[in-house]
Parts: sequence; C-alpha cells; structure tokens
Amino acid sequence: MRQGTARTPRRSRGGRRGRRSPLATLALIAVGLFVTGGAYAGFTATSSASADSSLTNAQNIAHGKRLFQANCATCHGLALQGSASGPALIGVGAAAFDFQVRTGRMPLEQDAPQAQKHPVSFTATQVRDIVAYGASVSPGPGLPDPKYLKGDGNATLGARLFRTNCAMCHNVAGAGGALTEGKYAPSLKDSSPATIYEAMLTGPQSMPVFNDNNLTPQEKADIITSLKYNAAASQVAGFDLGSIGPVTEGLFLWIFGLGSIIAFTVWLTAKSN
Ligand code: HEC
Ligand code: HEC
Repeated sequence: MRQGTARTPRRSRGGRRGRRSPLATLALIAVGLFVTGGAYAGFTATSSASADSSLTNAQNIAHGKRLFQANCATCHGLALQGSASGPALIGVGAAAFDFQVRTGRMPLEQDAPQAQKHPVSFTATQVRDIVAYGASVSPGPGLPDPKYLKGDGNATLGARLFRTNCAMCHNVAGAGGALTEGKYAPSLKDSSPATIYEAMLTGPQSMPVFNDNNLTPQEKADIITSLKYNAAASQVAGFDLGSIGPVTEGLFLWIFGLGSIIAFTVWLTAKSN
C-alpha cells in the first residue's frame, strides 16, 4: 500500500516527464524547421527576385533601350544588325554587354586595332539597364552566378588551367603581352572576378571563347581564385621588372651589364691617354 502510493506518484511523475519531453522536442523541431525554412524561402525569393527583376523589369529594359539607341545604335544598328562601324550583337548575350560597357570598352571611342578601355561612360544603374536591354533582345551567355566569383576555389588547379589556356597570351603572371597587328592581351592584375568570368564566357575580340564545355564554371572559379591570389601576393625579393619574364631580365643585363663594361673600357683608355 505504502509502496503503491509511493510508486504511483513516481510513475506518474516519470510518465509526465516522458510525455512532455518528446512533445516538446517535436514542437521545437517543428518550430525550428518552420522558422529556418520560412526564412530561407523568404530570402531566396527576395534575392532571386531582386537579381532577376532588374534584368527583366520592363521599365529598366525601356530605359536601357533608350541608352542603346543614343549611344550604341550608330555602330551596332537599331536592331543590333551591325554596320560598317560595328559588329552585329545578335546572340552575344547579357555577359558581353556587361563586359564591354562595365570595363569602359564600349561605347567605342576611336578606331584602333582593338577597343581601348576608357573611364566608364555610365552610372552603375545605367549599365544595368543597358545589360537588361541586351538580355531582352540578344539571348546568349548570361551574367555569371555570384557563387563562382567569390575567389574561394582551388588556386593551384586554377594556376595550372591558366598556364595551359591563357598564359600564351596573358603571360604566366597575368601581366599581359603583345599580339600581332597592334593588338595585345591586357594585364589581368586589376580585372574584377566578374570581368574575368565574362571575358572567358564571351571571348572579346581575338580572345577565344571558353564555354562551359571547355572550362566548367568551377574551373573558371579556380582560375579567378588563382589570379586573385597572385594579385594579392607580395613580391618576395628584388624588382619584378614588370613580371614579363626573361625579356626584361635580358634587357636589363644588356643595358646595365654591357653598359658598365663599355663605361669601364672608356675610363681605362681615358686614363692611359
Ligand atoms: C563607334 C562605334 C561603336 C559604338 C558607338 C559602340 N560600339 Fe560596340 N563595338 C564596336 C566595334 C568596332 C566592336 C568590335 C570591337 C572589338 O572586338 O575590339 C564592338 C563590340 C561590341 C560588343 C562585343 C560583341 C561581341 O561579339 O562580343 C558589344 C557587346 C558591344 N560592342 C556593345 C556596345 C554597346 C552596349 C554600346 C553602347 C554603350 C556600343 N557597343 C557602342 C563599335 C562600337
Ligand atoms: C589568343 C590570346 C588569348 C588567350 C588564349 C586568352 N586571352 Fe584573355 N584577352 C585576349 C585579348 C586580345 C583581350 C583584349 C580584348 C579586348 O580588349 O577587346 C583579352 C582580354 C581578357 C580580359 C579582360 C581584361 C580586363 O580587365 O579588361 C580577361 C579578364 C581575360 N582576357 C582573361 C583570360 C583568361 C582567364 C584566359 C584563359 C582562360 C584568357 N584570357 C585567354 C587574348 C587572349
């Protein structure tokens, strides 16, 4: 009897505790899932909406169209058909519009072997509107996914890919180099991740296109990582002489090495006279 009364409360207490905890855990999990799921859905909805809406918004496209007609159509044509002064832009895609305008290559200023970079002629909003117009009338490679532009890829792999695919024009250190007919591959030291990605995607001018079959998006991210790593790395010792390799080093020896020998012989003969 005493045992029973003693046991009953203990059992009921234990039972209550047992009943409460799984329910509380379940409720907690449900609330947790609901909150994180809801927040995630809300966040992705807003971020994709804000990314897409500026490129698909009719007002932005209309504004971009006006900017294109005023600044670009003389060379590229009102229907992107091209003219004697500029190529057709049909199918070049948003990536090419963004690359050309954001780096200050377009609108083209003067006739030269290749488009010269000049201070960007538009505000960031205007550039985006021109890109929105480009995306609406010229289907092609789109803007890169920001997740490949973070510079958190594999720098070693990226450096190897850069040496096999890019170094013959841009030099191993990305310092740039001369090409034929007055053209040149620019230095990549100050190129932003988006610029590097879009250059590979669109192949400006005499640069080849590296589509996603040549170099996967992850490989492009690795190349960006390696270039950003190089740009941030400090020079270990001595002068880098422009990082363009044996040419400047040889020139340095020719001018200063041979120069000092000549100066020495001149000094010797001057003394003997
Ligand atoms: C004076 C003439 C001229 C004007 C103005 C001009 N462009 Fe160009 N554009 C060119 C020429 C020429 C090329 C090819 C240059 C080259 O490849 O180096 C070119 C190339 C391009 C390309 C690259 C095409 C491709 O195949 O990848 C894009 C995109 C472009 N222009 C967009 C624009 C936009 C947008 C504007 C206005 C903001 C503009 N251009 C203004 C002459 C012009
Ligand atoms: C055949 C030579 C050639 C090869 C190979 C080449 N490029 Fe280029 N690249 C060029 C030329 C030429 C330009 C300039 C085009 C212009 O100004 O219109 C350029 C421009 C660029 C730019 C734009 C720089 C800026 O800040 O404006 C980037 C970035 C770039 N290249 C990256 C690469 C990468 C990465 C690779 C390898 C995956 C590569 N290139 C391979 C010739 C080359």
